[in-house]
Amino acid sequence: MENSFPHHGKTLTRENLLPLLRATDADLSALYARADAVRRENCGDAVPIRAILEFSNVCANDCLYCGIRASNPDPIRYQMAAADIRAAARQIAGEEIAGTIVLQAGETPGASDDAIAALIRDIKTDCPALAITLSVGNRPRHVYARWRDAGMDRYLLRFETSDAALFARLHPAGTLAERLRCLRDLQALGVQTGGGFMIGLPGETVETLADNILLCREFDFDMIGIGPYIPHPGTPLSHAPNVYADDPDMFFRAIAVLRLATPLAHIPATTAFDALFSDGRDRALQCGANVFMPNATPRPYRRAYQLYPGKPCVDEEALNCSRCVQHRLHTLGRPIAPGPSHSLKMKSDSHVLNPDS
Ligand code: 5AD
Ligand code: FES
Repeated sequence: MENSFPHHGKTLTRENLLPLLRATDADLSALYARADAVRRENCGDAVPIRAILEFSNVCANDCLYCGIRASNPDPIRYQMAAADIRAAARQIAGEEIAGTIVLQAGETPGASDDAIAALIRDIKTDCPALAITLSVGNRPRHVYARWRDAGMDRYLLRFETSDAALFARLHPAGTLAERLRCLRDLQALGVQTGGGFMIGLPGETVETLADNILLCREFDFDMIGIGPYIPHPGTPLSHAPNVYADDPDMFFRAIAVLRLATPLAHIPATTAFDALFSDGRDRALQCGANVFMPNATPRPYRRAYQLYPGKPCVDEEALNCSRCVQHRLHTLGRPIAPGPSHSLKMKSDSHVLNPDS
């Protein structure tokens, strides 16, 4: 297998990427070992922790795969009060485990834009050392700029699939071009930007997966979140299985090949891996992923934020998740990275990291 991955980073072509996505047995262990080594060389062993706060499940969109799509009447809709979000941020900062808070919600363009800017400012005032990542969907550039000016450090927005026709089928209200425009705007504004995609969407092929990985490299994202697509019973895709349902190694191959293709990206072991395998996130951390994102949403809301079924930790308290992370990483022999762990691509002088300034 050595000769099958002579390349990584920019020299990995579509031609030598495809066989890696089809690796089996002995080749597979060699691929994981190589990806793990590339992760160690480029990111180190310490694992940045990003605490996710799912502060609202209200959503105007109707993405065909998503459990909180507007047309699903099942989830009880909630919106956390600003004071409660602020208190949750203070608690996260106080624990000193996560150096980043990820504020995630459904997409409600317009209505919440000013409130979100105020929230970012308040959290930065309370917790100046905590990095803020926002993840609330497509917006015009001027709104992203306003949030950046308020103190937002990073933004997560997966492009979901690089296949424009598939994207259009899955998203009644948007196009891939529009999603990519948002990602370019964020990068141009100097916001650390995270893209990514789902693995195994109905209608995709291994070639799509290769193109997804290549698109991540083309964008040179700071962070790349990928995870298996999981059919949700309350959606039109309830009976559309994951394309790789019979080949679950594909989810880990995807992480490994992504690491080879984008050595300096922060790649989280995403929650959906744990929905499919009890040790899914631990395995992802051993074949290329370097970031862990525990759920920090208050327990009463967790059940209502199920984008897909089988999401772990819905019955846990936020504190349990942070203890669980410590235990899991200890078992893997991986220390927790201190501080906000900004992009590995940033020049050291391009960002103010001093919390006292
Ligand atoms: N299965 C897996 N991932 C999903 N997401 C949304 N719905 C599903 C699903 N059914 C992912 C999307 C989105 C992220 C927040 O959650 O990739 O960008
Ligand atoms: Fe939530 Fe383990 S990360 S209980």
